[in-house]
Amino acid sequence: MKILGIETSCDETAAAIVERDDRGQGRIVSNIVRSQLEEHAAYGGVVPELAARAHVSYLDGIIRRAATDAGIRLGEVDAIAATAGPGLIGGVLVGLTTAKALAAALHKPLIAVNHLEAHALTARLTDGIEFPYLMLLVSGGHSQFVLVRGVGQYERWGTTIDDALGEAFDKVAKLLGLGVPGGPDVERQALRGNVARFKFPRPLLREDRLDFSFSGLKTAVRLAAEAIAPLTDQDVADICAGFQAAVTEIVAVRAGSALARFRAELPNAAPQLIVAGGVAANQAIGGALRQVAAATQTRLVIPPPALCTDNGAMVAWAGAERLALGSVDGLGVAARARWPLDEPGMAIHAA
Ligand code: KG4
Ligand code: ZN
Repeated sequence: MKILGIETSCDETAAAIVERDDRGQGRIVSNIVRSQLEEHAAYGGVVPELAARAHVSYLDGIIRRAATDAGIRLGEVDAIAATAGPGLIGGVLVGLTTAKALAAALHKPLIAVNHLEAHALTARLTDGIEFPYLMLLVSGGHSQFVLVRGVGQYERWGTTIDDALGEAFDKVAKLLGLGVPGGPDVERQALRGNVARFKFPRPLLREDRLDFSFSGLKTAVRLAAEAIAPLTDQDVADICAGFQAAVTEIVAVRAGSALARFRAELPNAAPQLIVAGGVAANQAIGGALRQVAAATQTRLVIPPPALCTDNGAMVAWAGAERLALGSVDGLGVAARARWPLDEPGMAIHAA
């Protein structure tokens, strides 16, 4: 079957067509993403109203391109899937309402996709990974460990108690005068920095829990920068190196603990860890996770960066997985700003 997926929950306007065969294997037929970097550049962060307006302007054309690229007419898809939350509500409404209109006009089933579930299932599209597995989701809005038992079956084991990891990268970049989004710039700077110069704190690291906290670290970075201002290029690089080393250690230690819990709670399952979200593109963090995986005989899957950041293919795929299990939604389904993965409403249901 072929599914159209629509993603508009943050600052990417995206649509894709994904195919799923009878054996449950997926294939991306087309995948169009328009990032709104220019719209928000002047503001140092995503402005929700501007994001929603850009989705209104571009979504129709992007859906058309997804169909053209796939060489099909929209009427040939078997279902329409769209992110229905969590996210910036104006943008979510644009995508979900468009999906409802298409579903009604084309007489196709609608699947209202949880954006976090779409991230969680992407490694099944890219690598055919079987349940159960552990997901580390590290993006601009989320930092979580989630046990994925099946479609609609999630247990959140840890989350951030303040900033998300990508958000911490972005805020550090901003206070150092780097570009937007900050993560890639901080990583580039860190490459030529002296990692030994600044020893930043590792909040919560000694506590026996799977939660994250990054706001104290961010404050420590700000104080260090203020203490030596004005900053030279080398200062900026050294601070980035110190910051990236701190978050890399935090993520690696936490991943080790989460995998220990996985082995304890699921003794009969082979340990598997997937990483999702924009921060999964970070090579230092990826390298540290590879070491943790090797030391614990864990299968590690980090999908390609373009499928870790927000995109329509992951939404289409989540829709395909749900449709294959008979889970569809009515046209009355609501858009949601907040929608935790581990609530009862995530279970498979028929409309
Ligand atoms: O998943 P994503 O595209 O959007 C959502 O937040 O849902 O993630 C974007 C986040 C931004 O905070 C960005 O700075 C961060 O991912 N990011 C990175 C890297 N590439 C993107 N953080 C660290 N290192 C990177 N190479
Ligand atoms: Zn996302």
